[in-house]
Amino acid sequence: MDTDYIKLLQEIDTLTATGKERHEILLSICKLLKNKVYHYDWVGFYLLNAQDSMLMLGSYSGKPTEHTMIPVGKGVCGQVAENNTLKVVQDVSLEGNYIACSLNVQSEIVVPILKDGKFVAEIDIDSHSTAPFTIEDEKFLTSVCLKLSVFF
Ligand code: SME
Repeated sequence: MDTDYIKLLQEIDTLTATGKERHEILLSICKLLKNKVYHYDWVGFYLLNAQDSMLMLGSYSGKPTEHTMIPVGKGVCGQVAENNTLKVVQDVSLEGNYIACSLNVQSEIVVPILKDGKFVAEIDIDSHSTAPFTIEDEKFLTSVCLKLSVFF
């Protein structure tokens, strides 16, 4: 994995060991990732409310969004909640099932957080660059999500 991402994983280990409550830890991770990775322009977590099959926006860093609740199956976030697999959209204008948050967003990556094999939450990252996400992002964010499953 890219050395910058390895360093970030170490910083995330430090943040997760602070003993703070989940919301604060997730918020500090959002801020860290948005500030340190050039092509991460909005970083947030959506948490599953299983009773009504809705994703609820939790901690995030970036411009406020009106999409604080997303039904499972809707948009890129909802697809990941339904399929339990990471999704990269390198050009959002080509994605049919997409919920626009800002006209500046060109691309998006969403990675699920699984607990005992079940979807519990996801990290959603929007970018203002077109096609910025590589296999390094996928590996890095998958590691982040694995570390975070203990908080659910
Ligand atoms: N674009 C997402 C909606 C959430 S915003 O990016 C913050 C989607 O299609 O699900």
